[in-house]
Amino acid sequence: MSTELTESAVPPPTEHSAAPSRRTFIATTTAVGGAVVAGGLMTGPAALAAETGAAEAPPSSRVSLTVNGKRHALTVDNRTSLLDLLREHLDLPGSKKGCNAGACGACTVLVDGRRVNSCLTLAVRLEGAEVTTVEGLADGDGLHPLQQAFIEQDAFQCGYCTPGQIMSGVGCIQEGHTGSADEIREWMSGNICRCGCYVKIVRAVEQTAHGK
Ligand code: FES
Ligand code: FES
Repeated sequence: MSTELTESAVPPPTEHSAAPSRRTFIATTTAVGGAVVAGGLMTGPAALAAETGAAEAPPSSRVSLTVNGKRHALTVDNRTSLLDLLREHLDLPGSKKGCNAGACGACTVLVDGRRVNSCLTLAVRLEGAEVTTVEGLADGDGLHPLQQAFIEQDAFQCGYCTPGQIMSGVGCIQEGHTGSADEIREWMSGNICRCGCYVKIVRAVEQTAHGK
């Protein structure tokens, strides 16, 4: 990259900003970095990758699994989470990405009947698994009883946490952890609701479990 291009990429200081601003600093370092690369100063693996044309493709694997009763076989990057597999590869965006770090429960799905945080689950480890997402709960036009209970109890506000809450609630009921409101709260504690709908969420789980 020529000196001329490097200089033109950096905006001149204005009379109000004699000292370099954060923006001009970033522009300068980006331009200089580009000039160094273009000037042939790269060494090591980066230089090798540039000479061979491109970086190596990341390792990938073939995986077959069933999602909401439908069999899928696909090849994915080994680092792909189940959440990204569902949302990006299978066009099932019901499971939400909140923290992407196992802390909020927005991505909760059932794998072989057990609740999991899909953001922390590697897709390639699910060979032969049966996955159920919120899209797979309804029976045609008939909502799952817990989906219906969420509506009747008005158990959501923005709705972002709701798919995870419902999947976790289904798991909680199947596991039998619904003896009391306190027990439901304890076993649903991995599902965070920023809107604070916890009281109504617990009521919806109770209604479904006990017909209350
Ligand atoms: S997105 Fe998975 S736990 Fe928050
Ligand atoms: S309804 Fe908004 S985060 Fe739970």
